Amino acid sequence: MIKACVIGWPISHSRSPLIHGYWLRLHGIDGSYTRKPVEPAQLQDFIRSLPTQGLAGCNVTIPHKEAVHALVKPADATTERLGAVNTVFLRDAEVMGTNTDGEGYINNLRQAVPGFTMKDRRAMVLGAGGASLAVVNALLEQGAAEVVVANRTVERADDLRRRFGTRVVPLPWEHIEIHLPETALLVNTTSLGMSGQADLVLDLSRLSVDAVVSDIVYTPLRTHFLETAARRGNPVVEGLGMLLHQAVRGFSLWFGVVPQVTPELHDLVARDIDPGYQR
Ligand code: ATR
Repeated sequence: MIKACVIGWPISHSRSPLIHGYWLRLHGIDGSYTRKPVEPAQLQDFIRSLPTQGLAGCNVTIPHKEAVHALVKPADATTERLGAVNTVFLRDAEVMGTNTDGEGYINNLRQAVPGFTMKDRRAMVLGAGGASLAVVNALLEQGAAEVVVANRTVERADDLRRRFGTRVVPLPWEHIEIHLPETALLVNTTSLGMSGQADLVLDLSRLSVDAVVSDIVYTPLRTHFLETAARRGNPVVEGLGMLLHQAVRGFSLWFGVVPQVTPELHDLVARDIDPGYQR
């Protein structure tokens, strides 16, 4: 029996067990994937004792992603650059960490808008927190000519430019609308639009109707921001797909099968978020 889990504090809302449980059943694997609340004071012990607990690894969520980075061996350059880990696994009994948020974002984008390319084009990312870091890095890796980062606290966008270089262009939040022309991809990585929070309300009239608009918020499944974009004809990409795609590599590292993000999996998790969901 191969065991994995997701750790966070709190952890009760994580939908990762639903995702990995679906794949375990689909592939007939003798494995388990559970939620484990781990408080910050116990984090180091938990990570160090993974092998002796009989765990193949774990996912890491809020607030532990940065702290876990310092406790494991980064498995690749992207993870080192991000300073945050969302997937922990064992290699030759050594505890390794990687970050699949960026590939989760990109692979969702690819699946939702086949043929879309970022190469030599301009993206605008709203927000400069942890989620933004992974998305900005992934867009740069995809060959974006420029990634404009708009943030309420513009100093955090300046930090991203220092970290990633001059293809990152910081923008004060008030200037978003005038910089929308030439944007091929507009992404919300802020918490605006999440259930219980204020909506992200922007005047999109200067945005090309061909621009792809995406949101990493997935509760609700379709945010007010995406609805506004869809109504004027823009292709939109919902945030749930990123959650599903970021789970792929962890599953394959722990359980040895590369799983697919199928419409059936999407609908299963969508119905957990919104019981009235219909395709
Ligand atoms: P995460 O790791 O999920 O990205 P975070 O690091 O707390 O979380 O970042 C949240 C992002 O949402 C930040 O870009 C934040 O802007 P600030 O850096 O100015 O705090 C943004 N955000 C949250 N509430 C916002 C609001 N009411 N208006 C604009 N941006 C907001």
